[in-house]
Amino acid sequence: MSPLSARLIVVSNRLPLALKREDGKWRFEAGSGGLVTAMGPVLKNRGGIWIGWPGNREPIELPLLRQILGPVSEESGYRLLPVILDEGEVENYYEGFANAAIWPLFHDLQTECLFHPRHWEAYGKVNGRFARVAARHSDREDLIWVHDYHLMHLALKLKERAVERRTAFFLHIPFPPPDIFLKLPWRYEIMEGLTAYDFVAFQTMRDRQNFQACLRAFWPSSRVRGRGPVVTVGRDEGDIVVGALPISIDFAHFEALARSPKAVQTCEELRKAHRGRKIFLGVDRLDYTKGILQRLEAYGRLLEGQEALRESVVFIQILVPSREGVEAYSRLRDEIERAVSRINGRYATTGWTPLSFFFRSLPSDELAGFYRAADVAVVTPLRDGMNLVAKEYCACNTDGDGVLVLSEFAGAAGQLAKGALLVNPHDVEGLARTLVAACDMAREEREKRMIRLRRAVRRQDIFWWVDNFLRAASGRALRDFPPDDL
Ligand code: F6P
Repeated sequence: MSPLSARLIVVSNRLPLALKREDGKWRFEAGSGGLVTAMGPVLKNRGGIWIGWPGNREPIELPLLRQILGPVSEESGYRLLPVILDEGEVENYYEGFANAAIWPLFHDLQTECLFHPRHWEAYGKVNGRFARVAARHSDREDLIWVHDYHLMHLALKLKERAVERRTAFFLHIPFPPPDIFLKLPWRYEIMEGLTAYDFVAFQTMRDRQNFQACLRAFWPSSRVRGRGPVVTVGRDEGDIVVGALPISIDFAHFEALARSPKAVQTCEELRKAHRGRKIFLGVDRLDYTKGILQRLEAYGRLLEGQEALRESVVFIQILVPSREGVEAYSRLRDEIERAVSRINGRYATTGWTPLSFFFRSLPSDELAGFYRAADVAVVTPLRDGMNLVAKEYCACNTDGDGVLVLSEFAGAAGQLAKGALLVNPHDVEGLARTLVAACDMAREEREKRMIRLRRAVRRQDIFWWVDNFLRAASGRALRDFPPDDL
């Protein structure tokens, strides 16, 4: 059976739900991201399975967990299979190797890297467990689609157990060039793990080329065959198909959210509260890759250098708590809070607070109202696999005259370069100047750019991405994929 119609086994570190214990009772929140929405129908039609960790830190008995997941599986139309992690595994595999070694290294932030043999050992052990669950619940006809950097060793673990399966892998984060990647003590092992997949795909052409350069570093005789987003790399040890496929969002869903009553109300309230002022908006998970301190510094410089703009702008920064168990993240939170109060302390007047700061996640319809109200979205990560906030902003900009300021180091810059104002987030002065330019941009220019942005996001949405990933994994030609789009 071709992988295009094969039963699908999706494996990701997290299941598309979050299991929590509150007041002694277990409850879960269903996942709502674009990936879940797009995968749902595919899994349902093919009778698929989703394997992952339910995100719980407190121990739970497997029978009870199965009891909780049973009705969720029934409702979603595909099976959710849990992989349980104990406290030590969460610490060493998830917070350790995945988020304190691979995450910073792959985002070019080597100073944040912690390389520890104990973390590496846990990574192998947990990848082995995920592989065992995938093997037990699949057969040779199925396609096992593994997501992200937590599970780069899964296909190798299957091979080590002589389990023959078709496997495909998508890396949601960037892949670094050799001079960065080669710093990893387990660099050969990671390459060996990735080359055990039949198909490996990345967000951008640059990521794919970095991976190919690393392949050449270890297997100098490897040769690329073909052209375009998906090519084959021939090696004596076996061929591997590699692709560049930028992930996206459910455009129609976000557009509808922006028109929902809650979004309309939130947008009106924000516009009323900040009447006559340009609203800048930042929405990020709390992460040192997102360039939040540099962004705040740029805003501070703007206020410092452009006295005329004071009181006629406001910056709303929404920060969603994340990975609180990793030390670097709690340190960053303190630094950001200090930066926010420095700016407000210095520039606030009786009738104006320059920075409005939310440290929590907001319901999606309310967030859509923030997107809608924002005159300028400031999306300036130091490095990002894709950055879906940039795409969500465009989909929610139903008035069609918002400005997107976007880091050239976000994967999204490849598709959105023609409509966004691209910036180098390390160049704080340059960023401050771009914020001023965004405020000054004429309506006609804003509209022209937003039309391009919305068209790009609408055309290559999450359904397009899932379809093309499965096509590429089965050796078929891609659909609606102009080569100059990457
Ligand atoms: O961008 C990579 C990613 O793993 C996403 O898939 C996820 O939404 C985000 O980071 C947060 O990750 P975590 O599972 O560590 O909370």
